[in-house]
Amino acid sequence: MTDSALPTTSREWRQISRPVGWPKLEDFELAEAEIRQPGPGEVLVRNAYVSVDPYMRGRMSAAKSYVAPFELGKAMQGGAVGEVVASNAEGIAAGDHVLHFGGWREYATFDAKQAVKVDPEAAPLSTYLGVLGMTGLTAYAGLLRTASFKEGDSVFVSGAAGAVGGQVGQIAKLKGASRVIGSAGSDDKVKLLVEEYGFDAAFNYKSGPVSEQLREAAPDGVDVYFDNVGGDHLEAAIGSLNLHGRIAVCGMISVYNNTEAAPGPKNLARLIATRGRIEGLLVGDHYDLQPQFVEEVGGWVRSGELKYRETVVEGVENTFEAFLGVLRGDNTGKMIVKI
Ligand SMILES: NC(=O)c1ccc[n+]([C@@H]2O[C@H](COP(=O)([O-])OP(=O)(O)OC[C@H]3O[C@@H](n4cnc5c(N)ncnc54)[C@H](OP(=O)(O)O)[C@@H]3O)[C@@H](O)[C@H]2O)c1
Repeated sequence: MTDSALPTTSREWRQISRPVGWPKLEDFELAEAEIRQPGPGEVLVRNAYVSVDPYMRGRMSAAKSYVAPFELGKAMQGGAVGEVVASNAEGIAAGDHVLHFGGWREYATFDAKQAVKVDPEAAPLSTYLGVLGMTGLTAYAGLLRTASFKEGDSVFVSGAAGAVGGQVGQIAKLKGASRVIGSAGSDDKVKLLVEEYGFDAAFNYKSGPVSEQLREAAPDGVDVYFDNVGGDHLEAAIGSLNLHGRIAVCGMISVYNNTEAAPGPKNLARLIATRGRIEGLLVGDHYDLQPQFVEEVGGWVRSGELKYRETVVEGVENTFEAFLGVLRGDNTGKMIVKI
């Protein structure tokens, strides 16, 4: 079934060259493309919200990684939620809302198997990209599984006012952490962590050396460090790690735009004395936790025990700028573009 009132073209972002260092607008274009009606098994979706995420910086480079580079000249991809406006697939009808991967554009036509139905009555559509979506699951799985969090642990998380970090700290508190410490890049963000998210301590990493500020905020050391940042944060966390401490490496945003390899922490030998463990984490390995995550975190969101923020930028034309904003720290909570 198709909707005759639909426009015939849709705006979409394409990457046209590989950025070196900070991505520049010249590496991208906002193009106008024909809207393709769905073939057998396909759906056409009008995006309501699209996600901009730090990991996309990796896809902009040609380097081999866990996810393929964006193809130059083709529509970019990313998490998105929208309304099905035409369907040629069984089980999905016009009017349904779906989570899918055809972001950075107004309309997307794709195989219905790549769409997951979501209920806008159960939770606001945008939350399926954040607190109840990919970043939320990353926080949940990374803390509980990769970092083997247990009640009584003292937890330090960097990028703590961001989408993943804010949730890590709150889940740790809800699950009985003895102390939760966060770092963020502004005094307003630090205030939010303590006053709204209930962190025990927080500091602005731009105000002084991270190692000193962490020692002050966590005088008894940390059992778990959830790393979103890398660099001096990782070194400071190793320096404050307790016996049998665990470090979950989720992201290293401080080096994503580096043009040369960043030096590693100077104090890795501390892992011997502490019998510490460092382990990387990829959310894609943990989708089996999704039902448990939605039930537990969805419950906390509904009860108001877990707070979340979103920074919403309006207009498909501002998607690239919103993406840069995440790398700069313009966001509090999940950065989302409303189409
Ligand atoms: N492994 C996985 O499967 C997985 C999945 C999702 C996300 N991640 C990673 O998790 C991290 C957080 O992702 P997110 O989506 O929740 O983003 P986010 O935290 O909402 O946004 C990124 C934040 O990083 C901070 N930042 C930027 N440059 C920094 C620097 N040089 N030093 C310290 N902080 C800096 C900024 O906040 P400030 O104002 O505080 O600087 C910014 O708001 C990222 O590293 C991302 O790559 C990994």
